[in-house]
Amino acid sequence: MTPGLCCVPIVLLSTIDETLMKSLLIVYHSQSGTCAQLASAARRGAQQESDIETTLLRAWDAGTTELAAADGVLLVMAENSGALCGTMKDFLDRTFYPAIARGLVLPYSLLISAGNDGRGAQRQAERILSGYPFVPAAEPLILRGEFSAAHEVASAELGEAFATGLLMGIF
Ligand SMILES: Cc1cc2nc3c(=O)[nH]c(=O)nc-3n(C[C@H](O)[C@H](O)[C@H](O)COP(=O)(O)O)c2cc1C
Repeated sequence: MTPGLCCVPIVLLSTIDETLMKSLLIVYHSQSGTCAQLASAARRGAQQESDIETTLLRAWDAGTTELAAADGVLLVMAENSGALCGTMKDFLDRTFYPAIARGLVLPYSLLISAGNDGRGAQRQAERILSGYPFVPAAEPLILRGEFSAAHEVASAELGEAFATGLLMGIF
């Protein structure tokens, strides 16, 4: 058999596998550790899907390069003083014009931690993200109070649902 020919199926399979892989970027900011736990739980949920590559980054370490490499983005943040926390606002401020310049249109999801509300952060984030424009992939999830087993389950379910949707190409 010609050596070159026996390699063809392997090369094709490798190409197909790569095109099936999807990448989920999880960007978070956390002061007390609550949002960090929510973000990690969401990542564990997303990793239930074997063809998803997840990248978990603090907001101050993330930028347009990471957004451009992603197929979807999950933002995990607290509501502070009725608004989204400052570091997430900084991330959005830094990436807004560069994302528009690159024509990035990504599905996104919001996971918001709050003491007793969270709707101010939700409204502000949705307004900003509509300008990119990014497309909502799921209803925003607001989790109130300290991190709990129920929060862990809800975050993991959100991460898994987002990952499944990305793989199915429904966003
Ligand atoms: C400065 C500050 C302002 C806050 N403002 C609000 C608020 O307006 N509404 C609310 O529901 N919770 C508020 N919280 C509570 C946080 O949203 C909540 O503790 C959250 O879990 C913090 O997550 P993190 O510490 O992981 O960033 C505030 C907390 C801080 C420290």
